Amino acid sequence: MPVKAIYYNEFGSLDVLEYGELERPELGPDSVLVQIAAASVNPVDWKLMSGGLRSRMTSVFPVVPGWDLAGVVREIGPSVTRVSVGDNVYGYARMDFVHHGTFAEYAAVPERVLAERPSSLSYADAAAIPLAGLTAYQALVHRLHLDAEDRLVVIGGAGGVGTFAIQIARALGADVYATGSPNNHSYLEDLGAHPIEHLPHSRQTLATIKPTAVLDLYGGEPLQSTIGLLGGAERIATIADPTIVAKGGHYVFVQPSSNDLDALTDLANSGQLHVEIQEHFALADTKAAFEASMKGHVRGKLVIEIAELEHR
Ligand SMILES: NC(=O)c1ccc[n+]([C@@H]2O[C@H](COP(=O)([O-])OP(=O)(O)OC[C@H]3O[C@@H](n4cnc5c(N)ncnc54)[C@H](OP(=O)(O)O)[C@@H]3O)[C@@H](O)[C@H]2O)c1
Repeated sequence: MPVKAIYYNEFGSLDVLEYGELERPELGPDSVLVQIAAASVNPVDWKLMSGGLRSRMTSVFPVVPGWDLAGVVREIGPSVTRVSVGDNVYGYARMDFVHHGTFAEYAAVPERVLAERPSSLSYADAAAIPLAGLTAYQALVHRLHLDAEDRLVVIGGAGGVGTFAIQIARALGADVYATGSPNNHSYLEDLGAHPIEHLPHSRQTLATIKPTAVLDLYGGEPLQSTIGLLGGAERIATIADPTIVAKGGHYVFVQPSSNDLDALTDLANSGQLHVEIQEHFALADTKAAFEASMKGHVRGKLVIEIAELEHR
């Protein structure tokens, strides 16, 4: 059965993206066929498209980009036990190969990447959470073991990961400072953070704050300068620079996890995790969504609306 999808047949810039029909993905014994209501864009989608990550992940053409989804389970493989046909789910659908992503009407994904969609959220809001929310959660909870005694600095707080990180850190009771462009300062404040300029402009301010932990979402010089500030890298987690590990810090590469998604669901359902969507796009307009993401200043998330599905 043909399904509408965004895909590319070679690495390149935006003009390799096509919108058309592909065969519906086949269901394996451990997988779940999800009809997708909404997906969201992450910078990794266009980084993979450019071929820049080919040494780290294998792509099988045609590639359907996209890793986040929210939708309804339509079929399950014979060994699937945790989800049932008709379930409302969301998830970070990373697989071993980059091939059948989520910018399509259907995706076949392992059940281990799915969780029940937060009942308090629309499909679009739920689809914005998985990759970025899991990244923030895993960095703060599993790596930094953040708690109410901490003064956390988030470098680059207004984007997808930063938006969730600030709110998760606040839910853990930490005092949070976040860097952002001046036009994002009132947004950062609304999320619960004390806004500060991006480094190096905030070097003096940061020295006064005396942070106990840093979550870096940008890398480069801003990250390096925080090592001196904390007197070491032990309480620094970065998602942008693996070389931090040699200096004693934590490099986080997000993992699909239904348990961690359940924790994010609880935060959303208890009103502690707000979803900010800068813009919604139709599936056919994914190219425009990539263009917006590539500018590097998204506030919150960009969402691709794919189908209007029933709510349960
Ligand atoms: N390792 C992993 O598992 C993992 C997981 C998710 C994402 N990532 C990577 O982490 C990065 C952030 O992801 P995202 O989804 O949050 O991206 P995003 O939504 O596109 O947000 C980009 C952010 O970068 C900030 N920024 C721009 N210039 C900056 C500067 N000079 N200093 C500090 N921050 C600056 C922007 O803030 P302003 O607009 O306020 O300037 C914005 O908050 C991307 O490179 C992504 O590929 C890695």
